[in-house]
Amino acid sequence: MANLIDGKLISTQIKDELKEEVAELKKKGIDGCLAVIQVGNDLHHQCMCATRKKACEYVGIKSLSYELAEETTQEEILELIEKLNADASVNGILCQLPLPKHIDEDAVIDAIDPKKDVDGFSPQSVGAMVIGKPGFLPCTPAGIIALLKRSNIDIDGKSCVVVGRSNIVGKPMSLLMLRENATVTVCHSHTKDLKDVCKNADILIVAIGKPKFIDASYVKDGAVVIDVGIHRNAENKLCGDVDFDSVVSKVSHITPVPGGVGPMTIAMLMSNCVEAMKR
Ligand code: GUN
Repeated sequence: MANLIDGKLISTQIKDELKEEVAELKKKGIDGCLAVIQVGNDLHHQCMCATRKKACEYVGIKSLSYELAEETTQEEILELIEKLNADASVNGILCQLPLPKHIDEDAVIDAIDPKKDVDGFSPQSVGAMVIGKPGFLPCTPAGIIALLKRSNIDIDGKSCVVVGRSNIVGKPMSLLMLRENATVTVCHSHTKDLKDVCKNADILIVAIGKPKFIDASYVKDGAVVIDVGIHRNAENKLCGDVDFDSVVSKVSHITPVPGGVGPMTIAMLMSNCVEAMKR
C-alpha cells in the first residue's frame, strides 16, 4: 500500500516555522503585508483568496484584499499595482489569475515590482530560476519540491515525468526538478505515446487539468505520484488529475486530493512573503 504524502501536515509545519520567523522579524521592526488583487467574482478565486487571508493571519502577516469588478480596465489594474509598488509597507503583491479576457495578463505580471513578486511569475523571477540565481520561486512547483524533500523522497538521478507545460506549474516544475538533478521529461497535448513515457517515471507529476485522467496503466510499480489537479465532480466531491483509487495500490507514495499539493501552494506563498520581508 502506498504512503500518503500529507500536504496538509507538511504545510502546517512550514507555516509554524514561518510564524516564528515572522515573530523574530517583528521584534526587529519588520512587518509583512501581502496585497491580493482579484478581478471578477469567480467563486473558486474567492475561495483561494479567503484561504490566503487565513494563512496570512496564521503566520502573522497583514493582508490587503482588492476585489475589483469584472469590467475593471487594464489601466485601472496597472494604476493600482503602481500604487502598491510604491507603498513601502507592502512587501508582496499577487494578482489572481486567470484575469478576464479583456486584460493582458503579461502586462499585469510585468507591472509588479520583481522585489514584491511573491508568485514568482515575473520574467525576472523566471529568469533567475532558470539560471539558479536567488529569486522568488513559483509556489506550486516549490511546494512540490518541499513535499518530496520533507517526505525523504530522493530526487537526484531519478527519472521524472511532468505532464503539463503551463507557465504556472509544468514549465517551472520541470526546471526545479532539473535543479535537483532529476532526469526530466515534459509531456503535453502533442506528446506521442503518453502512457509509455509516464510508465518510465520514478516520479510522475501530473498537472493536466483533466479529472482522473491518469490511471494505473500510466504508472510504474513503486513510482511516486504527485497530483496537482483539483476538480469538483457531479456529487460535489473533490478529485485530482489522477484516478487515486486505481493507482494507490501500485505506487510507493502519492498525494491525495484534497490535502496534497494544494496546501503547499499557500505555505510556499507565505514563505515567499517572509523572504520579501527579509529583503
Ligand atoms: N491562479 C491559480 N493559481 C494561482 C497562483 O498560484 N497565483 C496566482 N496569482 N493566480 C493563480
